[in-house]
Amino acid sequence: MSLSIVILAAGKGTRMFSEKPKVIHNLAGKPMLQYVIDIAKKLKAESINVVVGHKAESVEKFFSKEKVSWILQKSQLGTGDAVKHAVPKLKGEKTLILYGDVPLVDIGNLKKLIEIGSELGILTFNKSNPKGYGRIVRGADSIEAIVEEKDCNDIQKEITEINTGIMIVNTKYLINWLSLISNKNSQKEYYLTDIVALAKKDKIKITAYKAETEITISGINSKKELAKMEREIQLKKSEELMEQGVTLLDPSRIDVRGNLNCGADVVVDVGCIFEGNVKIGKNVTIGAYSIIRDCEILDDSIIKPYSHLDNSKIGKKNIVGPYARLRPGTETSSNVHVGNFVEIKNSKIGAGTKINHLSYVGDSIVGNNVNVGAGTITCNYDGVNKHQTIIEDNVFIGSNSQLVAPVKIGAGSTIGAGSTITKNTPANELSLSRAKQTSIPTWEKPKKN
Ligand code: UD1
Ligand code: CA
Repeated sequence: MSLSIVILAAGKGTRMFSEKPKVIHNLAGKPMLQYVIDIAKKLKAESINVVVGHKAESVEKFFSKEKVSWILQKSQLGTGDAVKHAVPKLKGEKTLILYGDVPLVDIGNLKKLIEIGSELGILTFNKSNPKGYGRIVRGADSIEAIVEEKDCNDIQKEITEINTGIMIVNTKYLINWLSLISNKNSQKEYYLTDIVALAKKDKIKITAYKAETEITISGINSKKELAKMEREIQLKKSEELMEQGVTLLDPSRIDVRGNLNCGADVVVDVGCIFEGNVKIGKNVTIGAYSIIRDCEILDDSIIKPYSHLDNSKIGKKNIVGPYARLRPGTETSSNVHVGNFVEIKNSKIGAGTKINHLSYVGDSIVGNNVNVGAGTITCNYDGVNKHQTIIEDNVFIGSNSQLVAPVKIGAGSTIGAGSTITKNTPANELSLSRAKQTSIPTWEKPKKN
């Protein structure tokens, strides 16, 4: 059986009160529509067609890397009208309808709908408070119609089986039925759901498959619903992490906006945010309120609170933070210490090296067992270009030194505190560049006038 997929995403999303199209709002670090496209791709459809309307251009641009067809529905005249716009693209025997604002759609449910093999299969859900949804009206042996809330009579309003909107239809029938639906209803819209009554009229068997978990059929219409779903996703992620053996000091106070992969005995304190792909080895501790994006942290390292790590690789047995900032391209070897208010960018730091206080190290290669004193700055930028600093093994940089790049500090040497180093320094010697200390015995403290 060949399958076409239509994803409806033309709606304005009025209740989001946003300049941004609804479907590009993020959930756990990923835009809503991306979830739906990713699921659609897993179903190996003959085509994936996304119907866009409101801010169509910006949605298309946002997902320009995706191999999907964009279908423009200029005015949003209803879900039936939206699907009708996709008709020329529907070459599969069956058509599956999905929604750009129902991001957690469950692939298992979709596969079930496909497997049942019915000419019209509807994903339904039993909702104790069905207000706002289309109701599934059942007859003696089959579904008779879907009636929208606004068109329901009092008896129909009591029905708790609701239409999730997701359905699979024989494409030939769908095209025919779509040509027959009208907008003679309370909302003056072309309802996709009207195809159900038409199928009934044509004596086509209609089947329903009931989804069990509400989140898999929930649409997002407001920031409140977005936040609620975000929390549900995060809690689920927390549970998965704990099931893998991660200790979360508070499972409700961690945010994973991407993938977090942890070895055994990892402990994560409260308020941490993980973005992109983060891989953590064994026995690593992440201190409170740290933000870690696209990083790898090897075994037995400790990240102390309030550290920000971005696109960095941390070696084994490191101690980083508190208040450390590792920017893209930072790579540390084993047993490295990076202390408070230290910023490192695009630099390799050798084993056993310590940069413990108030320093900036950028575009540098730092050897093994180097001690970078407090307040050391690699001056990597001349206002136009960036230059490299090389600090060889066993160097001691005295506090408050500036290393003006390009510059190389020879192995085993020491830089006297407070030096501004502009030339390469020889190995194993003390280099310093500052005025000799003098004292003026005749000096007098100024007096207050
Ligand atoms: C629809 C269903 C209802 C179901 C509910 C589930 C219809 C007539 N009703 O109602 O039975 O219970 O979803 O949430 O189908 N859209 C377009 N173009 C349009 C209109 C809508 O692309 O012209 C898109 C919207 O962006 C949205 C989706 O279709 O993602 C649903 O539209 P909406 O107007 O919210 O339908 P409901 O009234 O919620
Ligand atoms: Ca809706």
